Amino acid sequence: MKNTIFRKKSVSDLLHQQGKIQLNKTLGAFDLMLLGIGAIVGTGIFILPGTVAAEHAGPGIIFSFIIAAIVCAFAAMCYSEFSSSIPVTGSAYTYTYVVFGEVVAWLVGWSLILEYGLAVAAVATGWSSYLGSLLTGFNIHIPQAVSGAFNPENGTYVNLPAIVIILVIAFLLTMGIKESTKFNTIMVSLKVAVILLFIFVGVFYVEPTNWKPFMPFGTSGILSGAALVFFAYLGFDAVSSAAEEVKNPQRNMPIGIIGSLLICTVLYVIVSLVLTGMVPYTKLNVSDPVSYAMQLVHQDWISGIISLGAVIGMMTVILVMLYGGTRLIFAFSRDGLLPKVMSEVNAKRQTPVKNTWITAILIAFCAGFVPLDKLTELVNMGTLLAFTVVSIGVILLRKNKDIKTGGFKVPFFPVIPLISFALCIFLMTQLSIHTIIFCGIWIIVGLIIYFIYGKKHSLLNK
Ligand code: ALA
Repeated sequence: MKNTIFRKKSVSDLLHQQGKIQLNKTLGAFDLMLLGIGAIVGTGIFILPGTVAAEHAGPGIIFSFIIAAIVCAFAAMCYSEFSSSIPVTGSAYTYTYVVFGEVVAWLVGWSLILEYGLAVAAVATGWSSYLGSLLTGFNIHIPQAVSGAFNPENGTYVNLPAIVIILVIAFLLTMGIKESTKFNTIMVSLKVAVILLFIFVGVFYVEPTNWKPFMPFGTSGILSGAALVFFAYLGFDAVSSAAEEVKNPQRNMPIGIIGSLLICTVLYVIVSLVLTGMVPYTKLNVSDPVSYAMQLVHQDWISGIISLGAVIGMMTVILVMLYGGTRLIFAFSRDGLLPKVMSEVNAKRQTPVKNTWITAILIAFCAGFVPLDKLTELVNMGTLLAFTVVSIGVILLRKNKDIKTGGFKVPFFPVIPLISFALCIFLMTQLSIHTIIFCGIWIIVGLIIYFIYGKKHSLLNK
């Protein structure tokens, strides 16, 4: 087995390996839930409900959110079983290494880099346009030349706010994980407060006639809507990449992952109901639907507060996604699949400082110069790919006698993992053909890197 591309890691080696290069264990279940909400609630609630309701699902977008949540919940259970059995950084990548072997693990990790990297860049881009409209409210205008992706015809060359926010958050991450979660806690509280404010004020302006027809685009609209709003739930899997920094992961990981998913679903469904009740869905095709709805009912102050909350909310998404991405690359490097510099832990800060800067600068470059709007579907694709592998992986995990029992177990085994697998494949088929082709190209590039570098340098050679 030693030299094949399907060589596997043993769980006991993994747990021992942690002894050598170790991250600090500081996070509890509540920290994890906050980390989860921090990662999950962002563009998905502040931007997506508008365009998806207007173009795909109408008020029936609540069903899209519920379907996407069910897919995520099934996958989340599989993730939880993995992360409570193998509490090691690297998320789906590490799990796959144990059950499927190296090359599959590398490809899953490679897909997740697509997820984290593009999600950070895409959310930073959305953040930048929300910031622009917030500042416009104060009569401050960001010059056109530095407020968007490279597009000389429009006179824009670089998205400076997007670059700056990524670098600022990278700086926070290098300060240490406990410090980053403190910042996250404050931001998440503000974000949830703003969402509750929208719900409590908005509910008085709901006109039930706006909910008719409830499903103007029929079932197909609801389903394509589900594949798009899937984006709104991304991030809970990033929580599992914190496993190595969690106290009592057997108990805390599942509470953290499933708890944060549940809270977000409730928020999304209520916000969408209120939003489509306040404004006819046909008018929601705007980039800031939640604050726009408040402007329409002349609650300008509330609208301003919501814009501010959105700007803050998206920052936490960037924080957790960037965190997940750097820890994944950390795991790659510790295993020898990427150069060692990416797993050096800074002695003073106890965080992978160089890794964080290198990753952040690459993503900031994408966010600053590349027009990303066409590529965000790719984020969903990369993630669904990882979810399918994790779902099937749980079945193999149970057979592995190396692993301690007693942690979280997926109920109705193996029905739930199989349903999870099928649902993920189904959602993938709802995405566009361009997305599927680009994903194929990404996988081929990944394979080339593995055969040129990873296979030769893998620690499993020793
Ligand atoms: N779930 C994250 C968001 O909605 C990616 O912004």
